[in-house]
Amino acid sequence: MQISFFELENWEKEIFQKALPKHKLLFDPKPLTARNALKHKDSEVLAIFVFSKITKQVLDKFSKLKYIATMSTGFDHIDLEEAKKRGIKVSNVPFYGQNTVAEHAFALLQALNRHIVEAVWRTRNQKFDYKGLMGSDLAGKTIGILGTGNIGQHMIRYANAFNMNVIAYDKFKSLALEKKLNFKYVSLKKLCTTADFISLHLPLVEGTCHIIGEKEFDVMKKSAMIINTGRGPLIDTKALIDALNKNKIGGAALDVLELEDDLRKEAKMASSSFVNPNRLHGLVKNHALLHKPNVIVTPHLAFYTREAVTRIMDTSAQNIKGYINKKYKNLVKM
Ligand code: NAI
Repeated sequence: MQISFFELENWEKEIFQKALPKHKLLFDPKPLTARNALKHKDSEVLAIFVFSKITKQVLDKFSKLKYIATMSTGFDHIDLEEAKKRGIKVSNVPFYGQNTVAEHAFALLQALNRHIVEAVWRTRNQKFDYKGLMGSDLAGKTIGILGTGNIGQHMIRYANAFNMNVIAYDKFKSLALEKKLNFKYVSLKKLCTTADFISLHLPLVEGTCHIIGEKEFDVMKKSAMIINTGRGPLIDTKALIDALNKNKIGGAALDVLELEDDLRKEAKMASSSFVNPNRLHGLVKNHALLHKPNVIVTPHLAFYTREAVTRIMDTSAQNIKGYINKKYKNLVKM
């Protein structure tokens, strides 16, 4: 069977070579697009990350494709409806260390709150001066968590360890969880009005796109800091920039951006001329964010620790073996 893998590092390739010795494995260092699909057209299985956008146009390039293993929890980069129409099954990696993402979210929170990036930049430039870099205690502050799923629950635990008051918003409330983890469910409006820190741990689905927009920023505390390790489009970027420009909030720490894949391509290509003009406006907005002193951006790496990535690879190898043996694992509901 021919199986194509995208964007793997050498040590990651070895995991699959060991796990699937009898199959023809193709490795492509780039994300899958309609452009490089031709080299993989005979593959029955694709193993991808979130930067491979599986659109109808990409699916059209494959006539033998039966199975897609996304090496991620989120699967909003795959057109599931199109995949279903073609009888293609999709699996994901539902758990690989939800602590990993929450740990990064907390690192971002403190980096922003304690001005770590600016402080390190100063000392590297021989400036041992802390003027303008005053942070605030976490103890006694209120954190609002959007999404009390796997990652959100880790955030709640860490926030409790810092003696913070925890409030949360989720479409599905669990009273047992509220009691067990010592937090309080509130409405989105109440969360936005009350929280000193807001951290997003929602999937990108209908109903969560731009869940934080102008209306929400308008009621936040002027000192509020927002952390997004969920997905870029959970926040309306235009409204965020406006909120920062008008000092409606204190700052933002973002591991994910709207149109981050275009930004990534642009960084690789030196020229942005290939970018769809409709998306160019979004890119410009991203650039405005990247250069603000009270904004910290990391390149979608919250998941990226050796332990978590090893678990992702192991689970993906098991998922692919499951397909080969017709004992499916971790199938995404379509
Ligand atoms: P999860 O599925 O365990 O939790 C999501 C929570 O969101 C659930 O409690 C659910 O009830 C709630 N929810 C869903 N739709 C909602 C809506 N319309 N309104 C309010 N609440 C809603 O997911 P998990 O594992 O905690 O991951 C959350 C997200 O984090 C993922 O979907 C993914 O987008 C992102 N992620 C980011 C990573 C990174 O590297 N930056 C890595 C892994 C995940």
